[in-house]
Amino acid sequence: MNGKNNSQNIIFRNLSIHDIPQLAILAQRAFQHGPDSYWAVVGAKRVQKTIVAEYMGRLIGAIEIEILKFNNEKHGHVGYIFVDPDFRRKGIGSKLLKLAEKWFAERNVKCVWALTTPDNIAAQRFFLKHGYKIVTKEKVFKLLGRKNAKRLLRRMVYWEGDIIFQKEL
Ligand SMILES: CC(C)(COP(=O)(O)OP(=O)(O)OC[C@H]1O[C@@H](n2cnc3c(N)ncnc32)[C@H](O)[C@@H]1OP(=O)(O)O)[C@@H](O)C(=O)NCCC(=O)NCCS
Repeated sequence: MNGKNNSQNIIFRNLSIHDIPQLAILAQRAFQHGPDSYWAVVGAKRVQKTIVAEYMGRLIGAIEIEILKFNNEKHGHVGYIFVDPDFRRKGIGSKLLKLAEKWFAERNVKCVWALTTPDNIAAQRFFLKHGYKIVTKEKVFKLLGRKNAKRLLRRMVYWEGDIIFQKEL
């Protein structure tokens, strides 16, 4: 894909069950055949909603999202977000995240959570660019209470040292 004109040919839509083989190929390319290649496909089957980007019949990006309820408040969780290496830095990840936030906002979600590993600088810059703030694990406990914080961290598959992001919508 070259230039901005072709970006008009990208379709953003919900994942269908028929997309799973293609999603697996995308995940392998995006996560360089590491363990996340597998878990991203498992994640897509587990979450409430996965939005994909498609270019000329090929999946080139995906975002996996769900709503969790804590103390009667709805919280958004961005699970895996990944874009094919050949299509990065063209705004596709941003568009997927914006669509996710729109979906959350329409459902009265006021707060969104995401997580990256400490070595994933690209993803950290990405979330910071989109207005997410880094919060400590202790802050999560303070904000949500022990039980809900533990639930969220488990759901995000938090590992000591991971970077937690939060955004108020
Ligand atoms: C993180 C990821 C989804 C971003 O997707 P993308 O389509 O390339 O993102 P965008 O083009 O919308 O980038 C938006 C902004 O994020 C930041 N950003 C994205 N990639 C970056 C990089 N490699 N280095 C520094 N900043 C980066 C920039 O500020 C960028 O804006 P700019 O291009 O105008 O400078 C993509 O890099 C990816 O798939 N990574 C592998 C999977 C992964 O680690 N996912 C996150 C954890 S699940």
